[in-house]
Amino acid sequence: MQLIDGKKLAQEIKIEIADEVKKMVMSGKRTPHLVAVLVGDDGASRTYVNSKVKSCEEVGFKSTFIRLERDITENELLAQINTLNNDDAVDGFIIQLPLPKHIDEEKILLAIAPEKDVDGFHPTNVGRMTLNLPGYISATPKGILEMLNRYNIETEGKHCVVIGRSNIVGLPMSLLMQRRSKPGNCTVTICHSKTNDLSKYTLQADIIIAALGKPKFLTADMVKKGAVVIDVGITRVDDPSKKSGFKLLGDVDFEHVSKKCSYISPVPGGVGLMTVVSLLQNTLSAAKEEFYAKSMSFDVDNL
Ligand SMILES: NC(=O)c1ccc[n+]([C@@H]2O[C@H](COP(=O)([O-])OP(=O)(O)OC[C@H]3O[C@@H](n4cnc5c(N)ncnc54)[C@H](OP(=O)(O)O)[C@@H]3O)[C@@H](O)[C@H]2O)c1
Repeated sequence: MQLIDGKKLAQEIKIEIADEVKKMVMSGKRTPHLVAVLVGDDGASRTYVNSKVKSCEEVGFKSTFIRLERDITENELLAQINTLNNDDAVDGFIIQLPLPKHIDEEKILLAIAPEKDVDGFHPTNVGRMTLNLPGYISATPKGILEMLNRYNIETEGKHCVVIGRSNIVGLPMSLLMQRRSKPGNCTVTICHSKTNDLSKYTLQADIIIAALGKPKFLTADMVKKGAVVIDVGITRVDDPSKKSGFKLLGDVDFEHVSKKCSYISPVPGGVGLMTVVSLLQNTLSAAKEEFYAKSMSFDVDNL
């Protein structure tokens, strides 16, 4: 079994990004600028945003952290998005999810200008990904592709089972794995909470991507010998022995599954770190106008 070391990969990619940023600055361009917006003060969300902001600093990006009160109205948040959409000094921005219940998440994601949507959640970017056109690919699936690519894991002709069909992980992941590209060209099965006899599918899988948010869900008896297992799940569970008071668990029973598979990504130290790096890659693409020209102005009032 080979461990897919997200920490090492993320570090390598950060060095590559930092080199590119240096070259951009030397050629007279400004540094890429990412803005992260957090509504409220949820502990896990704050940790994610902090890690994104810290990673920006590591690669030489400018980053701005905007924290808004939990009781902000939907219109106030839309106004903030409008400002960011039209600020030429901002290359990309993210609105950390989940949002408080009184705010319509879908409306907020639609308000983000596609050219600044470095999370890749806007329907324009999802559509472009689906049609294999250039655009921002949502960070977690993009990070998983990078893992498969950098570990030279063959995907063509393989059977990939994705567990979970959320808009941010399972669904885009399943679409990406079947695309005519490398990594890609898999035969894909998507499983979800209504799938009957889920092991029937996972036992046939050459590649399993577990993204359901149920700790240790995927057990060794559900996995074929030699399979590649990517664990996306991150669940915080109480652990008084830790300084933080909690530990992170993935969706895979790592201890037993790792003995059976060919490659496995751990939690922590796997997909989570790659997600942050993908966001940096998307921001770099935004700064370089790789997919969209910056001149487009976007007004949420016209939606
Ligand atoms: N590593 C990272 O960077 C990263 C990024 C994002 C998310 N995550 C983690 O990944 C996990 C999934 O996140 P998400 O946002 O995709 O979650 P989500 O929106 O809650 O979606 C979970 C998916 O899993 C399916 N599911 C739930 N229970 C199931 C079961 N018993 N059997 C089969 N399928 C089941 C659900 O099916 P239905 O559609 O039928 O409800 C749904 O499609 C979470 O632990 C999250 O924290 C990690």
